[in-house]
Amino acid sequence: MTEPTPGWYKRAVFYETPVYAFGDSDGDGIGDFPGLTARLDYLQWLGIDCIWLLPFYESPLHDGGYDVSDFEAVLPRYGNVENVVAFLAAAHERGLRVITDMIVNHTSDQHPWFQAARQPGSPTRSRYVWSETPDRYPNARVIFIDTQDSNWSWDPVAGVYYWHRFFEHQPDLNFDDPWVRNAIKDVVRFWLDKGFDGLRLDAVPYLYERDGTNGENLPETHEYLKELRAMVDEEYPGRILLAEANQWPEDVVPYFGDDDECHMAFHFPVMPRLFMALKQQRAGAVIDILARTPPIPATAQWGIFLRNHDELTLEMVTEQERAYMYAQYAPDPQMRKNLGIRRRLAPLLDGDRRRIELLQSLVLSLPGSPFLYYGDEIGMGDEYLLEDRDGVRTPMQWDDSPSAGFSPADPGDLYLPLVSAPDYAPATLNVAAARSDEGSLLNRIRRLIAIRSAHPAFGLGDYFAVTADNPAAMAFLRRAAGEQILVVANFSERAIRTSLALAEPAHWVDIGPNRPDTWSTGSAFELVPFGCRWLTAASDGVD
Ligand code: NOJ
Repeated sequence: MTEPTPGWYKRAVFYETPVYAFGDSDGDGIGDFPGLTARLDYLQWLGIDCIWLLPFYESPLHDGGYDVSDFEAVLPRYGNVENVVAFLAAAHERGLRVITDMIVNHTSDQHPWFQAARQPGSPTRSRYVWSETPDRYPNARVIFIDTQDSNWSWDPVAGVYYWHRFFEHQPDLNFDDPWVRNAIKDVVRFWLDKGFDGLRLDAVPYLYERDGTNGENLPETHEYLKELRAMVDEEYPGRILLAEANQWPEDVVPYFGDDDECHMAFHFPVMPRLFMALKQQRAGAVIDILARTPPIPATAQWGIFLRNHDELTLEMVTEQERAYMYAQYAPDPQMRKNLGIRRRLAPLLDGDRRRIELLQSLVLSLPGSPFLYYGDEIGMGDEYLLEDRDGVRTPMQWDDSPSAGFSPADPGDLYLPLVSAPDYAPATLNVAAARSDEGSLLNRIRRLIAIRSAHPAFGLGDYFAVTADNPAAMAFLRRAAGEQILVVANFSERAIRTSLALAEPAHWVDIGPNRPDTWSTGSAFELVPFGCRWLTAASDGVD
């Protein structure tokens, strides 16, 4: 077990991976816990601090495992609870922490809770949400618009409609039933007892339904989170709750409560704006959304990310911005999914190292803790024609062998095909090749992670926007415990000069990979195309 170090998550670099995608130890073509455990040395070498595991619980797998049929069992193809415990011990031995996904809002329709609740006259009917008619809660939007027409589906066994915010095979739990509230706490205890360092709370805005509302961010949801947090603080000090709340900044900030709800929450709106700013070659969209982000409690932390296992969501943009993003980043309509784009980072940026490094440098320096998505550190590609979001969930590419070092199985027997585009296929793009090439993207990202980790202000510091007179430039300070870091980024394809509205200190030194450059306050600040510089005050630690 790792020691409870308060605030560890604020300095941590997170790394998201599904168990099924990382390493297959038994040759069935599907990643498993022993396979993942065998790859921990790589993650330690990369310099990350905390792994985020996607759901690995018993599931019919109609939603990548977010459709859980037994919260306290491991899907046998991934291993068993002993394998999970051994994996956690091996991670902790290496100083790595691990958080896991906790699907609190819904279950699979195969879950015994639902199977029992739907029976005529069932005494447990109230564990789910039912209605005689499918017109209740009309203000609640449908999230999976490509496949669902309504949040209600008819259950022929129960003879009534049941409520689901996602797929029709994922009935929502009814948090008005105290049994449900307690049962979820017990699931949380079950996995924290096994040694997980925290939980990502999936789909957390939708726990309650109330007439006349859109069913998002309701006061009752915040009440429940306060109960959960009190329990975690009391029984598992040092473990964290991370909110997946795809909402506007002012609606996410309440998920931190008054330091009594979640420790962390993803900053969804900043993500598409990083991509937008890059195409516009103007920094304004990113600067503005951060200006619009209310302050958060001192112990709270944003999760900053570029891509994850879902579509690049375009829910937190205007309609006009969404149309722009689709036109720029998803010219083929098949690249679109729900309100988003099902592509990976590198292909989105045309494999352009400069633009990938710019966005990764920002993820590693914006206020919050960075979340990297497996494979993006080597610039992995996607297969967007695969079903649903599978195209961004293909096997990790370890080497150039037929199954990419992921599995002893034949390539045709893997859970999903390997990426096939020549520029992105394992023969060209893999960890082994990237590790041995000093100039690779992988080695560059590893270096950036090391620099971030060496400077507490990246994780702990406040955010202070610095005005730059060049619209392509974004500048800000991160300040904590006597350390000041200046970050200046250039969203344009041209080399730029900009003035920065900073009065002091007089001298700065680059700490990024392009050191030993310096900058004197008041002089023109220079950036290469898509450049991003990190600097510290030259006087830091001297006087
Ligand atoms: C959010 C998860 O990230 C996504 O993958 C899943 O489909 C939905 N929640 C529904 O569980």
